[in-house]
Amino acid sequence: MAQSAAPVLALDGPSGAGKGTIGQICSLKFGWHYLDSGAIYRGLAWLAKNEGVLCDDIVSLVSLADSMELICHVCETDSATIEINGHVVTDELRTDEAGQLASGIAPIPEVRAALLSMQRRCRKAPGLVADGRDMGTTVFPDAPFKVFLTASAEIRAQRRFDQLKAKGFDVNLARLLESIQARDVRDSSRDASPLKPAEDALVLDTSELTIDEVVTRILTLVN
Ligand code: DC
Repeated sequence: MAQSAAPVLALDGPSGAGKGTIGQICSLKFGWHYLDSGAIYRGLAWLAKNEGVLCDDIVSLVSLADSMELICHVCETDSATIEINGHVVTDELRTDEAGQLASGIAPIPEVRAALLSMQRRCRKAPGLVADGRDMGTTVFPDAPFKVFLTASAEIRAQRRFDQLKAKGFDVNLARLLESIQARDVRDSSRDASPLKPAEDALVLDTSELTIDEVVTRILTLVN
């Protein structure tokens, strides 16, 4: 089966734990493909908003998911560029609003099922770094490498604040913290593929670790 051909590093964890930064560094170091599964949920929520599809209209959401074409370009100098149905939407998808909208449609089992094969198709030689909430538990349960990154909500909010600020967004730290905490509760308490470490995942609390330290630990695991 093609799915078992290539190795996968499943990188899961809550919002702001560093999955995106660490995942992109690892994908460049290994020369592996990179899947930003959060961008898929954000992209679908963004498409739904643009098309006036409400988050309880499951039939229309599934049909949008089936027709969505998402391309993610990773480069060494910046964060990944996301293209949906031919439009570059990187900045629109990075906003806190897009994250909340994504978290709103993510509990719907039909939506998750519709997005599953798109994610699994990303598993190609020589390997895949897959970043998300359920990479190690649901999407790639047989991944040979699983890491669950976490950090305190305060530190994650501060990181997200610095990231968005550097990109020129007008952000408020207290509101970001509230939003991250609300998203943690929603993502962990849903029935369909909740945010939780796979039983065989290495759990890394990155609160006190630098990016280099986290990357080194992952390199040790994969090598
Ligand atoms: O990683 P992120 O912040 O871009 O994800 C946005 C939301 O999408 C997140 O709050 C929950 C949802 N999501 C998910 O349910 N499963 C994934 N594998 C990735 C994201």
